[in-house]
Amino acid sequence: MTKQPKIIYSGLQGLDRELKKPEWQDAKYTIILDENTFQHCLPMLISEVEALQEAEFIEVPAGEECKSLEVAAQVWQTLLEGCADRRHVLVCLGGGSVCDLGGYVAAGYKRGLRHINVPTTLLAMTDAAIGGKTAIDFGGVKNSIGHFYPAALICIEHGFCDTLQPEQTLCGVMEMVKTAAVTDPELYQSLVAEKTRLSPTKSQIVSVARIKSRVAKTDPYDHGIRKILNFGHTFGHAIEVYRQLPHGIAVGIGMRVAMYLSVKKIDLAEDVYNTYSQWLAARFAALGMPLPSFNLKDIEQMLPLMHQDKKCADGALRCVLLQDIGAAMVDVTVNDNEVRDALLHLGK
Ligand SMILES: NC(=O)c1ccc[n+]([C@@H]2O[C@H](COP(=O)([O-])OP(=O)(O)OC[C@H]3O[C@@H](n4cnc5c(N)ncnc54)[C@H](O)[C@@H]3O)[C@@H](O)[C@H]2O)c1
Ligand SMILES: [Zn+2]
Repeated sequence: MTKQPKIIYSGLQGLDRELKKPEWQDAKYTIILDENTFQHCLPMLISEVEALQEAEFIEVPAGEECKSLEVAAQVWQTLLEGCADRRHVLVCLGGGSVCDLGGYVAAGYKRGLRHINVPTTLLAMTDAAIGGKTAIDFGGVKNSIGHFYPAALICIEHGFCDTLQPEQTLCGVMEMVKTAAVTDPELYQSLVAEKTRLSPTKSQIVSVARIKSRVAKTDPYDHGIRKILNFGHTFGHAIEVYRQLPHGIAVGIGMRVAMYLSVKKIDLAEDVYNTYSQWLAARFAALGMPLPSFNLKDIEQMLPLMHQDKKCADGALRCVLLQDIGAAMVDVTVNDNEVRDALLHLGK
């Protein structure tokens, strides 16, 4: 990885100013988008960013479906047919899926095009679009093929959140709470203090995006400190697969499991766990969703899913736990009985 991306926190107006600078003068832009971002986000993008008014665009399937080799090949084909050269810049207008695909395509085409991430979901603004990881799903394995290939620019425009479904917003909020929980007590408190409003504020979005950027800069290749961002994920992944829940929502439950284990194993204060559990229950209730619970039979089927998790080595589960909000410990060994106890406790 060479240059770190510039993040524009002042939204589309900031992007408009940026693209008028000399280094973008000879750029030819192709926007990668899906049917939802075409409808909800493209009009705002091209009305506010003058340099993109003449851009071509390529539509890809919405959601995870776009992260495939077939879709990547179609985009490469379209670029080739349009004689795209190294002056071309891909603008990824979408959630984490479009940003992951767009970055992957940019990394491969003619040994690397510049790309600009314009994330349109809360999760992408605060996480997926930042940090240089690109990926497609291959061989039935999510994110199995990809590169570290940072965007040249990332533009955070919180106005795109207005058209998200409540469930998508909740997914983003859960991942924001996760990032705050392992790094920033004040931000964490402000997020879990929110009892009624579902959408976070612009300033909370910017704060989480800055943290993600800082952590990714410190550990660009995911060898060390970046692991803290996996908080809640060992359990969350198993819950996501077993209960077919959206990723962020499953991570929200996974964080409750991890906090319970943190109380038991590394002395996290019990009131931190209680406050989080109440907040989580309130968030689920607000969306009319029941908080899932698990019996022993469920847990026996979920344990192998956790052991497949990439964080697990030598047969032991290694998790990120919390000594306190803002003080995460990585690679804490957790045995199966402790996991059983924590998952059973979800129903209490
Ligand atoms: N590269 C990374 O570091 C990283 C980190 C976390 C997640 N991810 C990836 O991100 C993906 C998930 O991203 P996501 O949660 O943003 O979902 P998504 O990109 O799959 O989008 C979900 C849906 O929201 C729609 N949508 C997007 N913006 C919208 C808007 N403003 N209004 C209305 N609808 C809109 C999309 O069209 C899609 O149907 C996963 O593939 C995951 O692996 C990557
Ligand atoms: Zn996640």
